[in-house]
Amino acid sequence: MSDSNQLWTDVDHYFAELFVGADATLTNALASSSAAGLPDIAVAPNQGKLLHLLVRMNRARRVLEIGTLGGYSTIWMARALPADGQLITLELNAKHAAVARANFEGAGVASKVELREGAALCSLQELVREKSAPFDFVFIDADKANIPGYFEFALLLTRPGSVIVVDNVVRNGAIIDPDGSDASVQGVRQFNTMVAAEPRVTATALQTVGVKGYDGFAILLVVEPHRTA
Ligand code: SAH
Ligand code: DHB
Ligand code: MG
Repeated sequence: MSDSNQLWTDVDHYFAELFVGADATLTNALASSSAAGLPDIAVAPNQGKLLHLLVRMNRARRVLEIGTLGGYSTIWMARALPADGQLITLELNAKHAAVARANFEGAGVASKVELREGAALCSLQELVREKSAPFDFVFIDADKANIPGYFEFALLLTRPGSVIVVDNVVRNGAIIDPDGSDASVQGVRQFNTMVAAEPRVTATALQTVGVKGYDGFAILLVVEPHRTA
């Protein structure tokens, strides 16, 4: 680890200790994920708290998550919901889904969380077909090559005032290489171009450093598109 990475990590620990604190439920969720062999790619504790705060700030009652893993980010967001709130989370990998379901039970959020197993694009199509009520908050954090498709569905499943957050939009800075062949980077670049041209959202993106290295979030607000006629 480089010196700057070590410093980012130390500062993340400093903030997590102050603003997140010891949380046995979340620690257990990460431990059971790790024990089951899931990759260590959940959001950092202070990032999970950011998602939690954004859900609360927007008084969201319905949350959609694309990419569950062991449910760490899910638990953070589910805890931000009112008693009658609902979170639907989409996961392709059956093992990840099983670990996440157990973690939702352990965290006491299972009654608010519905995990739909399968390819997210199929589950999203299903939500559209069901005429799902709009989601107030969407967190996109699955396979990066499909982010453009997830964004299209997010627009169909939200309303003006909804917030869409997308993880991993910086990827160590690889995002600014227009010639890169990496499908993940191409997916994020195409998404960024779509967002810039999309009148139904206004957006920004932030670079982050810390225990998860150098990456970033895009944050979008769904707006009423301006009418020209
Ligand atoms: N949001 C989680 C991390 C998600 S990691 C957290 O912060 O705690 C990305 C997840 O997306 C992995 O579990 C992976 O299995 C899942 N995934 C990858 N491709 C997918 C697809 N096509 N549909 C649904 N989930 C997918
Ligand atoms: C990966 C996915 C993520 O969502 C993340 O936050 C970090 C890494 C990955 O697939 O490598
Ligand atoms: Mg991520």
